[in-house]
Amino acid sequence: MKSLFGLCVFASVMAGGAFAAEKAGTTKKEYGKLADGKVVDEYTLVNANGVTMKVISYGGIITELHVPDKDGKLADIVLGCSNLAEYVEGHPYFGALIGRVGNRIAKGKFTLDGKEYTLATNNGPNHLHGGKVGFDKVVWKVTPKEVPHGQALVLSYSSPDGEEGYPGKLDVEVTYTLTDKNEVTFDYSAKTDKTTPVNLTQHSYFNLAGHKSGTILEHNLMLAADNYTPTDDTLIPTGKIDPVKGTPFDFTTSTQIGKHIKEIKADPVGYDLNYVINPQRSKNWLAAVVTEPKSGRTMTVTTTEPGIQFYSGNFLDGKQKGKEGTLYKQYGGFCLETQHYPDSANQKTFPATILKPGDTYHQLTTYAFGVAAK
Ligand code: GLA
Repeated sequence: MKSLFGLCVFASVMAGGAFAAEKAGTTKKEYGKLADGKVVDEYTLVNANGVTMKVISYGGIITELHVPDKDGKLADIVLGCSNLAEYVEGHPYFGALIGRVGNRIAKGKFTLDGKEYTLATNNGPNHLHGGKVGFDKVVWKVTPKEVPHGQALVLSYSSPDGEEGYPGKLDVEVTYTLTDKNEVTFDYSAKTDKTTPVNLTQHSYFNLAGHKSGTILEHNLMLAADNYTPTDDTLIPTGKIDPVKGTPFDFTTSTQIGKHIKEIKADPVGYDLNYVINPQRSKNWLAAVVTEPKSGRTMTVTTTEPGIQFYSGNFLDGKQKGKEGTLYKQYGGFCLETQHYPDSANQKTFPATILKPGDTYHQLTTYAFGVAAK
């Protein structure tokens, strides 16, 4: 294992009831090789409190994230596969960087400047998460970056003109930072040489009790969203913006995820919808707060984005092979994907996702981890 920065700070953390010495810093090692021989690296980021995040260059996937509970005990709170072969074999976007366009585009078609573009339909009749080989399946160039209060990686990828049917060469740079305040930030930017839609996001599945601890139905969730975008039964927005009040979708006050889940009419039953984050004055909007009662772990999401997809792991079915021999069951993890609204490329009343040459796409999201006050 190679230490990339000479940050020899030793942080003493309570792990499993005993003191474990973790060295703050960033290290790199080979994670595996793809069929074409391309090497995939794994980066381990450790902050001053011993919080550890592992990221691989394949798909920008966060494979592990160990954060403390109310007693300082670390647990890995993200779902994932146990090796590269399992990730390549197929998985439901565990921990992955999503693009060019996160979420769905109806029928895989959109029109820009009078020209119709056709994309892969990889989710029933629709296009999902950038297509067959989205940003979750490409190898990113990863460069560790020195930052004052934490550890950071810059992930970059140049998506060729026409890739997955999208116009323009898109140069993407995403900085993942693990701060010494136990925050994980994602700072995305992109530039294009032709007008094109862009909607980047992160698809980590969280279970704040630990990735192998069962369902997330007892987690409490607050979403700073009075409204949501209702969809048809293929999860394409109807174009309306409806209030959550009086529906099972209301998380305006902290509510157990499982409380109203069975009232949802969907197959499979569960949450898989885009919330319209209440506009606030500050640039970095509060989107969500999640609390897990037993461990006391909390997660607060802020973002520059207007929407957040809350997905309660409805499609997990106990067959997906995961870390430490875990077979993830339905509701085994949740995703909070900060984003522009689904199908924005076709929905003219939604905030636009179109990037023009000369302009820079930008989005910033923070997941801050803490513990609930006793
Ligand atoms: C997103 C979608 C879900 C599902 C998951 C992956 O969250 O909205 O419908 O496709 O990704 O399984």
